[in-house]
Amino acid sequence: MNLMTSAPIHTPVLVKETIEALAVQLGGRYIDCTVGGGGHAATILAHSSPGGQLLGIDADPEAIKIAKTRLEAYSSSVRLVNENFANLEAICIKYDFLPVHGILFDLGLSSLQLNGNGRGFSFQHDAPLDMRLSPSQKVTAADIVNTFSEGELTHLIKTYGEEDYSRRIAHHIIQERPIKTTLQLARITEQAVGGRRGRIHPATKTFQALRIAVNQELEHLEAALKQAINLLGFEGRLVVISYHSLEDRIVKRFMQQEAKDCICPPGTPTCVCGHTASLRLINKRVITPSPEETKLNPRSRSARLRAAERIITQDAYNETSEKLYFLTKTKANGWRQPALLKKLRSTFSVL
Ligand SMILES: C[S@@+](CC[C@H](N)C(=O)[O-])C[C@H]1O[C@@H](n2cnc3c(N)ncnc32)[C@H](O)[C@@H]1O
Repeated sequence: MNLMTSAPIHTPVLVKETIEALAVQLGGRYIDCTVGGGGHAATILAHSSPGGQLLGIDADPEAIKIAKTRLEAYSSSVRLVNENFANLEAICIKYDFLPVHGILFDLGLSSLQLNGNGRGFSFQHDAPLDMRLSPSQKVTAADIVNTFSEGELTHLIKTYGEEDYSRRIAHHIIQERPIKTTLQLARITEQAVGGRRGRIHPATKTFQALRIAVNQELEHLEAALKQAINLLGFEGRLVVISYHSLEDRIVKRFMQQEAKDCICPPGTPTCVCGHTASLRLINKRVITPSPEETKLNPRSRSARLRAAERIITQDAYNETSEKLYFLTKTKANGWRQPALLKKLRSTFSVL
């Protein structure tokens, strides 16, 4: 709780490690793809001022409102955008915010979203089963729970929740439909697995699975990581904090692959992929919070930070700077012109 405003606040995770991994510099330009309560963003701005600039993105309009208040002191250096980071490249082109010195993803949800504000993310509070980050999204958790077949639900809970009891939980869900609220689903899940065992609530994995599905979290992360590389200037840093193994696996594989010159299958006699490394790994081992941090902020327990630096070979440098030059020019000349848009489409995937 912020005693000055009595508004609840989100405690940012691995802050010192994030600033170090981003190598934040005075006058630098940064993108916070998950601005949330503005905690990391405020620290980035504090370390890059004077002259620092930040583009803060969040899919949740409520988060943008909170970040706006939190970052008021830096209002002339910040642009906040209520968008999904899956559209990262298009957002940067639209706001002419590229290339940048660093890009941060602090994935998942903030405490503000989890703390039962009627959005249905938590099984600790009763609320309609919604789970959408943005009200503009069409599909809610209730839609999935009440319309998927038993087989589809089993698959979803197993794949996105890594839940061993997915079949039993899906079966109970089907028996008890329609399911409208978080507590109803939590009770059904608990019954399906035969009550509580240990400290983790039996509904944890099912709720995770539904949240991932509703918000297409893994697809959006994969799409955004690919776009992030070309927005980074030479030696620009990419930093990702993830909170569950599915996200962390995507980040780890992506960074490892982009740090290699050849990605041909093992045993291929000569390279046919033509892939060249675009990143250098900063931390070979994942960074996790200290025992002191997890004690002070238990939510940080599952955080995993990975970081990489943009490297640019001569060829890639020519290609990248040409692309950036092209984008700046087309923006100045009106990048929405159909011919330019067509050309941009062939260069970028998301427009
Ligand atoms: C862990 S919180 C970030 C907290 C923030 N770093 C801070 O210090 O306050 C994650 C935020 O990412 C947002 N988010 C998750 N997926 C997103 C996506 N695909 N596009 C944009 N924002 C997203 C959530 O709405 C949430 O506000």
